[in-house]
Amino acid sequence: MKTGITFGTFDMFHYGHLRILQRSRALCDRLVVGVASDEFNMRKDKHRVPVVPWEQRAAIVAELKCVDEVFKEDCEEKKADYIREHGADVFIIGADYEGRFDWLKEKCGVEVVYLPRTPGVSTTDLISKIKS
Ligand code: CTP
Repeated sequence: MKTGITFGTFDMFHYGHLRILQRSRALCDRLVVGVASDEFNMRKDKHRVPVVPWEQRAAIVAELKCVDEVFKEDCEEKKADYIREHGADVFIIGADYEGRFDWLKEKCGVEVVYLPRTPGVSTTDLISKIKS
C-alpha cells in the first residue's frame, strides 16, 4: 500500500483545493493531509489568520472521499517527522512550492511530487474579491 501525504491551509475551501487532493490521491492508495493550524498559518509566508478556524477546515477536508486521514500541522520544521509518523512514501504539494521540499527525498527517502496549481482560483483571490 502506497501512502501519500500533502499539506495546506485549505482556508475558504475551493475548487483548487479539491483538485489537488483528488490528484494527490490518484498517486497513492491512502492519502494523509496535514492541515495547518491557525497559529502556524499566521507564521507562514502570508501572515494571515485563516477566515475559517482549524476545526472546520479539518472537518471539511476529512469528509472528502479522496482523503483518508487528517492531522494538525503545527510547524514547517516538523515536515520530516510527520512523514515518518504517517509512513508516507510520497510527498505531494502544489507547484507554488517547486523545489522547496526536495531535501525531504534524502532526509526521509520519500518521493517528492509538485503538481501544477489549478489556474484562476486561490484563497487570496477570494478574499480580495469579497473585499472589493
Ligand atoms: N492549490 C492548487 N491550486 C490552487 C490553489 C491551491 O493546487 N488554485 C494547492 C496548493 O498548491 C497547495 C494546496 O492547494 O498544495 C493548499 O493550498 P493553500 O495555500 O491552502 O491554498 P491557496 O488557495 O493557495 O491559498 P493562498 O491564496 O492563501 O495562498
